Amino acid sequence: MLLRSAAIRRLRRLAPLFCVVALVLAGCTPDHYSQTAFRPLSDFGRIGDDIQTTTLKWAVLVFLLVEGALLYAIFRFRGKPGDPEPSQTHGNTTIEIVWTVIPALILAAIAVPTVRGIFQMSATPGADALEVQVIGHQWWWEFRYPALNLTTANELHIPVGQTVSLKMSTVDVVHSFWPPRFAGKRDVFPNRETRLWFKADSAGEYSGQCAEFCGMQHARMAFHVEAQSPGEFAAWVAHMQTLRAAPAAAAAPSMDSMRTASAGATVQAEASGPGDPQYAAGEKLFQAKGCVACHSLNAFDAPKGMIGPNLANVGARSHIGAGTLKNTDENLVRWIENPQLIKQGVLMPNLGVKPEEAKALAAFLRAHQ
Ligand code: CUA
Repeated sequence: MLLRSAAIRRLRRLAPLFCVVALVLAGCTPDHYSQTAFRPLSDFGRIGDDIQTTTLKWAVLVFLLVEGALLYAIFRFRGKPGDPEPSQTHGNTTIEIVWTVIPALILAAIAVPTVRGIFQMSATPGADALEVQVIGHQWWWEFRYPALNLTTANELHIPVGQTVSLKMSTVDVVHSFWPPRFAGKRDVFPNRETRLWFKADSAGEYSGQCAEFCGMQHARMAFHVEAQSPGEFAAWVAHMQTLRAAPAAAAAPSMDSMRTASAGATVQAEASGPGDPQYAAGEKLFQAKGCVACHSLNAFDAPKGMIGPNLANVGARSHIGAGTLKNTDENLVRWIENPQLIKQGVLMPNLGVKPEEAKALAAFLRAHQ
């Protein structure tokens, strides 16, 4: 009786702690995290999720059985003063065999889906897959579509329902490509190709992240996956293929082609065009300030080996600076004026651009949608 009331008092003292733990766990719902791997949206993502769910189920079962037996033994066989020494089981061959065989069987049961999953994830996608070359840079992502002759940066557009085959490498240090809703992390290396594939089954904009420490701005090496219906993807491809070097007029956006901003961004609805004085001033500055040396404005047949991200459709992207800032006019101006203040160590130097020049450059870039 005395023991029981002491136990109840102890439990009462722990009640606030239980409440705090419950609150914290309630915050762990995947709804609050855009980069959760617990809500897979692709076949590849589900393979990993299934393995983790299977393993968790076995782990919970083992935990309940072991802890249940332990608690039962503690209370049922509690020793009292004067009890004789209980019988000893040390060296009992039968028990030793039983508790060696049971974990071995459980591990074997987990190994079967795990090994099957490893083989599935390492498989080479079929010829109908859309190939995308992923190139890591400090600190942004380049995406090239060889079959479509397209290049873009930091926004990976993919069609829903078609497998994408990613062939990945980097131009500098080791990075790790991680689109959490679609696939696991995959390290990318210089001078070596790693591969990843997945088939998205849900349209939308989803965030991804470099998952390997790659320098000072590793945390600002994000990207977005734009999963689109086959029709929307085809329209995007057709539009991007108009963003080419010649004829010059093709680079100017038509009102029809201007898409609304991706989720969360406030892209200006009215972008200036070639007739606009701001645009013309920006176009001149783009040459004069040397932007053109690092950034290409052609999505189609873009030059390879450019140091900076491709800007052919920068005006339509949801973010700038590889997920660092929302793509608003104010942020674009801030970035152009002083990229080192926003992303210290980034390869883009402060070019001594005056505020009015930055505005003109931003107007010029905004028109590139
Ligand atoms: Cu690239 Cu971290």
